Amino acid sequence: MANNLLKGKKGIVFGALDNKSIAWKVALEAVANGAEIVLTNAPIALRMGSINELASQCNAKIIPADATSLKDLEHLFDASMQELNGKIDFVLHSIGMSVNVRKKRPYTDLNYDFLIKGLDVSAVSFHKMLQVAFKMDAINDFGSILALTYIAAQRTFPDYNDMAENKSYLESIARSFGYHYGKHNNVRVNTISQSPTMTTAGSGVSGFDAFFEYANSISPMGNASSEDCAKYCISLFSDYTKMVTMQNLFHDGGFSSTGVSQDIIDILQKK
Ligand SMILES: NC(=O)c1ccc[n+]([C@@H]2O[C@H](COP(=O)([O-])OP(=O)(O)OC[C@H]3O[C@@H](n4cnc5c(N)ncnc54)[C@H](O)[C@@H]3O)[C@@H](O)[C@H]2O)c1
Repeated sequence: MANNLLKGKKGIVFGALDNKSIAWKVALEAVANGAEIVLTNAPIALRMGSINELASQCNAKIIPADATSLKDLEHLFDASMQELNGKIDFVLHSIGMSVNVRKKRPYTDLNYDFLIKGLDVSAVSFHKMLQVAFKMDAINDFGSILALTYIAAQRTFPDYNDMAENKSYLESIARSFGYHYGKHNNVRVNTISQSPTMTTAGSGVSGFDAFFEYANSISPMGNASSEDCAKYCISLFSDYTKMVTMQNLFHDGGFSSTGVSQDIIDILQKK
């Protein structure tokens, strides 16, 4: 279904770890739609994951960057503009990690050093990336910058732990920076709130399988897949959404607007 929506556009894709990653699907879909891209991830993830395979499929260079390091981000934007011969049209921030979740700390017994680290990786990194790009004037007019988020920013999902605050902060950055970038040179900044998706980061949340099935049963269309999320990202990178900015956009098969579904009622009535 590639329609060359990104023909002539140049992008940077953060966060492809393995072929389950949402960023992996976005990279493939962007290239299928005519874009040229650079792939990036934290140096340790480049050693652990399988990004080389994606790079060869996308004919893309990999430029390592820890998204919490301003120095790495400056190098990334500089090297990407050289590699792609010009300014950047779109960026995907597909990064999330909570040390408290990894170490199974309950929300009522958080370690605050872990909390600060997770906030830096999952949310402040988005501000850092935007600020570096802004100061370097690295994004073309009507460029589009997206980050991925989850509805736990608005509603409580107990096992999502401190990632809920990280996502609230991330979504707020999209609104605040979106204002300044819109004024500066019409660059759009948005977040996409995606359904639960079977990936390395997703399945790190305890009880993820039940979480996934619950969302699937509530959503009238079922959970949105990572392939469909990638297609939605392409539409937001394209010129068909030039005036969409500072939004948190739900890509969730209707989950966010549904109170209860017949499927859930049927399950509860059988008990
Ligand atoms: N999987 C889900 O259920 C789901 C649902 C909604 C939103 N999201 C969001 O989608 C995004 C992508 O996650 P995913 O599910 O594809 O999982 P994933 O584990 O494949 O991707 C997470 C990525 O973050 C990268 N990362 C971690 N620390 C980093 C750092 N310091 N610098 C640079 N990169 C770093 C990892 O290397 C990895 O590539 C995340 O923001 C996640 O919260 C996921």
